[in-house]
Amino acid sequence: MRTGFLILSAFVLAACMGDAPVEDPMEGYQEVQSAKVVDAPEPQAGRFYPGDRDAIDHGAYLIQLLGCGACHTNGALDGVPDMNKALAGSMTGIAYSSPVTDKHPGVVFPPNITPDEKTGIGLWTDTEIANAIRAGTSRHGSRRLVTMPWQGYARINDDDIAAIVAYLRSIEPIANSVPEPVKRGERTRERFVYFGVYQNKLDD
Ligand code: HEC
Repeated sequence: MRTGFLILSAFVLAACMGDAPVEDPMEGYQEVQSAKVVDAPEPQAGRFYPGDRDAIDHGAYLIQLLGCGACHTNGALDGVPDMNKALAGSMTGIAYSSPVTDKHPGVVFPPNITPDEKTGIGLWTDTEIANAIRAGTSRHGSRRLVTMPWQGYARINDDDIAAIVAYLRSIEPIANSVPEPVKRGERTRERFVYFGVYQNKLDD
């Protein structure tokens, strides 16, 4: 019995899909080498939690370890992170349905998680930020975030989540809005990647 299971972690980049022929749904995509460590930006002393430098430093360590910048920093998904806009959102989106079966997959863009009040999470409460990270809930809990890997963060303990929040409040607010999400079936000219998971077929 074949039990092989293959996970391809390479990201595939779609740029302007055009009308790909039905026979090859991957035409119009190219492989990108995006797996790299993205540095967390330096916290700025004196912001929001001036007395709690230890928590901020611990939060910086966790953000680095948990790879938040690999999605939330512009360019990181394409392998060329723009560290001047670290954590300020990605103009490259992530597909949440498969381009193999959907000619036009749904796409979300990792948003700005710097403390900018208009375009980032500056006005979110600590609980709202914690819920987004550990439970994948949107700001007012109205929907579940997609492609944000909250399942992997669900067991972050309260001290660690407080440190992450302290850190996110300590970095420079950067004004930057990401594109609107693209609905499944809707055509987009924005760039996006998808993460592929494939299982071999056991019945032929
Ligand atoms: C695999 C890519 C990826 C990683 C890694 C990732 N995120 Fe996200 N995150 C997203 C996407 C995409 C969204 C928006 C999803 C949606 O709108 O449905 C999101 C949404 C969020 C939101 C809600 C913000 C808003 O404006 O809606 C917060 C807060 C957040 N992420 C924080 C984090 C933190 C902190 C980490 C690291 C611990 C992290 N993310 C790691 C992709 C990622």
